[in-house]
Amino acid sequence: MKRIFSGIQPTGEIHIGNYIGAIKQWIELTSEYDCIYCVVDYHAITIEYDIEQLRQRTIDTGLILMACGLSPDNCKIFVQSHVPEHTELAWIFNCVTPIGELERMTQFKDKARQHRENINMGLMDYPVLQAADILIYKAGYVPVGEDQVQHIELSREVARKFNNRFSPLFPEPQAILSHAPRILGVDGINKMSKSMNNYIGILEDKDIIWEKLRTAVTDVNRVRRKDPGNPELCNIYTIHRAFSGNENLLEIDKGCRSASIGCIDCKKTLFENMVKELDPIREKAEQLKKNEDYVKDVLMDGAKLCREMAQNTMEEVRTSLGLYRPKIL
Ligand code: TYM
Repeated sequence: MKRIFSGIQPTGEIHIGNYIGAIKQWIELTSEYDCIYCVVDYHAITIEYDIEQLRQRTIDTGLILMACGLSPDNCKIFVQSHVPEHTELAWIFNCVTPIGELERMTQFKDKARQHRENINMGLMDYPVLQAADILIYKAGYVPVGEDQVQHIELSREVARKFNNRFSPLFPEPQAILSHAPRILGVDGINKMSKSMNNYIGILEDKDIIWEKLRTAVTDVNRVRRKDPGNPELCNIYTIHRAFSGNENLLEIDKGCRSASIGCIDCKKTLFENMVKELDPIREKAEQLKKNEDYVKDVLMDGAKLCREMAQNTMEEVRTSLGLYRPKIL
């Protein structure tokens, strides 16, 4: 069975960009692939973060993934720092990764601009740890949003460099993009992200979701209600595609182009469909919150299974590198 790996940072709150750009397809893929999903806490410490909150946010991120539909029955789900072999492999990959490749990563450049006071080595090395996350399980496919494609390309290069220099241990992983690989924020300009504060959280109160949707930017060329709009240029329509059925979509496309419906009508339909999909997730999250020990157990069991796999790969890696291995360690 082909193997999938993907990860998410423990920000504690998951937005609809994460959900429709990545998580929705993580769930769909579980029926066909051997899937491993990870809460990447070591990635989260590359920028300033709240030490008091990291622990709870890590558990909450696992909890939300489970509320969305992931479970030990359809995948392995765990916390990155519980399998320390990831960072060990990242060190080894550091020794085959050209610095120039890391310097030209868009995310590194963006984050370095945003965090001028803390441009640390981890920020630059971030994609190497990401390559280690994927390759330690020899995963061939990585479902992500568009912003991660460059990192997956780097993983391919790291695999190639390692395979050529040492032994052909690793596949060259491919990104799998969803139908909505780049969701803009409610500002209609920047990618939806927590740091830009332009996001709609999947567990936010309905009133807040509506308020954010109501004021969200649509097709900027549609100034007055009677102006025809272009759904292709509208972020709200892109979000509609992920939440609404074909019939709704056709109606909205037609109504928008002919100006027979206004943006508020379109947003109301989207809101209804979003709530229909997000309500059961919210309910499941509330149930799981009452039973946090179960969530912790799932994460721990996932880590045990993954650690065994990771340790096997590391033995192969150490042998390929020519390291001295005593019989018992
Ligand atoms: P993170 O936590 O930033 O995002 C998690 C997933 O959500 C996707 N995403 C989006 N998709 C569409 N539109 C958006 N506005 C949007 N915002 C976020 C991201 O592309 C991602 O798929 N580096 C990764 C975490 C990671 C990882 C890995 C991923 C660490 N190791 C190994 C894959 C494989 C990240 O920043 O995720």
